[in-house]
Amino acid sequence: MGEAAATTPAWIQLGYLVAAVCFILALKALSSPRTARVGNLIGAAGATLAVLLTFVAARPQHLWAILGAIALGAVAGVVAARRVVMTAMPQLVAIFNGVGGAAAALVALIEVGELGSTGTAARIATAFTVLVGAVSFSGSAVTFGKLQALLPGRPIVVPQVRYVYGGALVVTLAAAVVLILTGSTIVGVILAVLALGVGVLLVLPVGGADVPIVISLLNAFTGLSVAASGYLLGNTLLLVAGTLVGAAGSLLTRLMAQAMGRRVTTILFGALLGTSTQGRTVESTRPVKSAGPDDIAVLLGYARRVVVVPGYGLAVAQAQHALKELADALAARGIEVVYAIHPVAGRMPGHMNVLLAEANVPYEQLAEMDAVNPEFPATDVALVVGANDVVNPAARKPFGSPIAGMPILDVDQAKAVVFLKRSMRPGFAGIENDLLYNPKTTLLFGDAKESLTKLVAALKAV
Ligand code: TAP
Repeated sequence: MGEAAATTPAWIQLGYLVAAVCFILALKALSSPRTARVGNLIGAAGATLAVLLTFVAARPQHLWAILGAIALGAVAGVVAARRVVMTAMPQLVAIFNGVGGAAAALVALIEVGELGSTGTAARIATAFTVLVGAVSFSGSAVTFGKLQALLPGRPIVVPQVRYVYGGALVVTLAAAVVLILTGSTIVGVILAVLALGVGVLLVLPVGGADVPIVISLLNAFTGLSVAASGYLLGNTLLLVAGTLVGAAGSLLTRLMAQAMGRRVTTILFGALLGTSTQGRTVESTRPVKSAGPDDIAVLLGYARRVVVVPGYGLAVAQAQHALKELADALAARGIEVVYAIHPVAGRMPGHMNVLLAEANVPYEQLAEMDAVNPEFPATDVALVVGANDVVNPAARKPFGSPIAGMPILDVDQAKAVVFLKRSMRPGFAGIENDLLYNPKTTLLFGDAKESLTKLVAALKAV
């Protein structure tokens, strides 16, 4: 607590200040794809400085054990980050986030034994860190399972969820109060176990459109628990860093919830209110219209305006370069080409922007959902490449679908719609898309990269 901060030498405090400034500069730089790489490096430099200073300031007893743990964590982190394929990045971020929450909770659990007769404020910080850190860990683990397809992406609702979740919340909060009153380590451990259960129950019923919001919410939770552990340890830098993550995560959660037409409270307590939306995959026998690359090339070649809607499948197929090639070929014929970017297309914020930037698609050709939606009626062909949920008209229904109420790209308003996908399988939300059966829709089945390459070749003959 304050004591420890007071005994830290001034030059170390100054070093912490430099590290804190690095974190703030890193956040600023991360706000644009152009400067994000530098932002990452600045943040990493700040973190390295902070760790080194902490070793000098604290002169820890179990130095070799700590260094061993750091080496182990560093090797695991470097190997995971180097090996991860681009499409699995969101789940890696989810698990890294969860581990941060778990670390904060463990630190607080160790501190419980040291609290003695210290003030209530320290005990409140302890209970908060254990509770929120453990929720963040188990919630992130479930999110990882959903993103890795180990668990279904659609909402999973346990029987009597309202009572199970409500009961779990009440018991967990009661345990937190007992911890504050007694400072008992055993109660701390019980609180951690209960909070792990709450984290699972919080994320299981979340599906489709709400997953991105919950990821950012859990990120904010980790930040807040780290900030509280910073207070507990009397480490100003941990407090600052945690607060930055907590604030950034909270703002992102709010912005994403607004963009998706959701309330954060509905996501947190939806299971309690019974408003959690459960999806239903319907196997349809309705006919669809499919065509080969030559027919689609004719459709595209004689259009005046084409709006490309990229989605998760573009990332899976790594088809961004082939897509740019097709767009360039269309533009060379005098056809206006725009890329419509939905805020949750893909599996992480800004996924499509990163992907298209990799293929050097000019920023000016990217249009946000609100800007592009009024333009669909004047669009000859909407070319949907590996997207599904973000164009699914089921979102317009007020309830009854995991994506109900989510704003979508109004692709069905275009004169013709072309889908590039491999099968009739649904998207992340696990629900059928009526637009696939719409008479103005044509499907080109196959891997997006192969289909796009064939389209580029076929267009030359048109
Ligand atoms: P999805 O709805 O997941 O649809 C992806 C489509 O790509 C599927 O129809 C799939 O059909 C197709 N596909 C997959 N691999 C392909 C390949 N190699 N070639 C061609 N097509 C391929 O994607 P979306 O429209 O981008 O929507 C995103 C969803 O993820 C939303 O529900 C969103 O809430 C959720 N989510 C988003 C985030 C963030 S932050 N963006 C995070 C977590 C979850 P086939 O299998 O038939 O090919």
